[in-house]
Amino acid sequence: PVDDSTSLLDALPYPVGVAVTANTVQGDSLELLNQHFNQVTPENFMKPEAWYNDDHSFVDENAEADAVMDWAQANGGRVYGHVLVWHSQTPDWLFQHEDGTFLSGDSEADRQELRERMRTHINNVAKYLSDKYGLFGSDTNPLVAFDVVNEVITDGPSPETDGLRNSYWYQILGEEFIDDAFIYANEAFNSTYAAPGAEHPVTLFINEYNTQYGTDASSKTGRYHALIERLVDRGVPIDGVGHQFHAWLDDDVEGFGAAMSAFDDLPLVQAVTELDVPTRTGTPVDTQTLLDQGRFYQRLFEMFAEQDAKRDLFSVTLWGLVDSGSWRFYEGDPLLFDPYYHGKWGYAAAVGQEIPA
Ligand code: G3I
Repeated sequence: PVDDSTSLLDALPYPVGVAVTANTVQGDSLELLNQHFNQVTPENFMKPEAWYNDDHSFVDENAEADAVMDWAQANGGRVYGHVLVWHSQTPDWLFQHEDGTFLSGDSEADRQELRERMRTHINNVAKYLSDKYGLFGSDTNPLVAFDVVNEVITDGPSPETDGLRNSYWYQILGEEFIDDAFIYANEAFNSTYAAPGAEHPVTLFINEYNTQYGTDASSKTGRYHALIERLVDRGVPIDGVGHQFHAWLDDDVEGFGAAMSAFDDLPLVQAVTELDVPTRTGTPVDTQTLLDQGRFYQRLFEMFAEQDAKRDLFSVTLWGLVDSGSWRFYEGDPLLFDPYYHGKWGYAAAVGQEIPA
């Protein structure tokens, strides 16, 4: 019995985003999307593998990307791109010679080859999105941000890799691949394909999960901060820090605010990029637990408001529109809306309604 007539957009002081598929922007979910969100993140279809045909050529058409860009263009929405350089959902051939052997970090020719492939990939994504929707920063192009690099920090300390994930990118290029990715993204999105006069139209993010579990130097967040500080010190064109916040209802809610505050000393904007809070009970979830989830979301939204007051948040994005569409549905109804498009207690918290005891 939640009154869900208030738009999240009227209640929250920052842009509110949601991860979408092509299905979200049509049919029954469209009305809910339009009522509550003004920004979308493509859940899977701007990832590296989504841009290639079986013969490794760049696609002529990415229909899901088009559907979502079309929605944003027609409805005054913004698109937060996800993701340019990642270890997952990325074709292996990108890292291989034609005979299938891997490029080697010991060969400068191989390293240069991989840099060129990265640059070409990023350039082709930017070219595709600007050929169809106009130059970035023009009135017709709704793309405002991109996760340039995703999930590069290891979960454990791993001093042998400076705390960085031992991905193919890292094995071949070392930490330098992160600098390269931002340099190439900045070149493509904010220069080559930017509208004349548009001032830095696409905000370039690094993005990470599990930042809510402590901030000291040995923690994942400590290592995330150290990496970003190195990037800033080297003059790498990075603009923003993303916190995925794939939470659990039994997480210590204080950890999320601490994670965001840990970056106050850096000259970068912050975003919550992939928020969800499964109950860990499986489905169906009982009423009492859904109320607990509402109170958990309430404390998160209070914290986001504090962070936003301190320094404007770029956006807060829910990782899916309705529970049944979530990658974590079976861990327990993680989102703000139920499968029947009704607001839950988490939604009620977001719009400032009281959660019953
Ligand atoms: O499209 C195929 C479909 O043809 C096939 O029948 C079906 C059978 O399994 O799989 C479908 O692909 C799935 C795809 O989602 C689309 O639904 C993949 O198996 C599945 O692995 C993929 O999961 C995505 C996951 O990233 C992959 O890493 C989730 O939807 C997506 O929510 C998730 O998002 C990530 C972020 O990108 C980065 N941060 C973590 C987050 C959660 O893992």
